[in-house]
Amino acid sequence: RPGAEQWVPQGAGIDLLREAATRCHGCELWEPATQVVFSAGPPSASMVLVGEQPGDQEDQRGTPFVGPAGTLLVQAVKEAGIDPATVYRTNAVKHFRFEPRGTRRIHKTPEVQHIVACHPWLHAELEVLTPGIVVALGATAGRALFGRPVKIGAERGTVLEGAIPDSSAKALLTAHPSAVLRMQRDPGYDEAYAALVRDLRTAAAVAG
Ligand code: URA
Ligand code: SF4
Repeated sequence: RPGAEQWVPQGAGIDLLREAATRCHGCELWEPATQVVFSAGPPSASMVLVGEQPGDQEDQRGTPFVGPAGTLLVQAVKEAGIDPATVYRTNAVKHFRFEPRGTRRIHKTPEVQHIVACHPWLHAELEVLTPGIVVALGATAGRALFGRPVKIGAERGTVLEGAIPDSSAKALLTAHPSAVLRMQRDPGYDEAYAALVRDLRTAAAVAG
């Protein structure tokens, strides 16, 4: 049977989940990746950030949001008045999906099948976390959390109640930091970055 379900221990806390995820073969992404990248930050966090998947540097270091997109995100979190160390950080898909190109590994967006296969981990995390708000960073995180396709432009920046099936946590959809990073040489960069900070402020205001 495909999917992570059979590797997810029942009633486990975050540390046990993180340890069990090292054995997951719920989809094919475990094999070319260096290691699973589970999460970071305190399980008691009032804010949970959910990204897409680990990138190249995250895959090598085993920690989420330590690469270029992560650096931008941490900066935006600080500018929103939040101490990044108090935030729980995780991803919709827990292995790096890439295409080898010479000596480089080029990021590939996960397919819906990978989001679905990996969802039991995110679901188990949300069972034990007690956030005031869960922030979906980008369309992959939104799809994983809400169980439906999402449109960032139309749905971002609003506090949503009941958007996460089987969870009472409030949620907010915003842009993925990689999408903002890609705009670095565009005239729209400043506004895109400001919009991310604005959304994180909105989330912080209801996080409690
Ligand atoms: N790093 C992560 O861990 N997740 C993302 O979604 C992007 C960068
Ligand atoms: Fe398991 Fe998720 Fe990794 Fe696939 S991406 S092997 S489901 S942890």
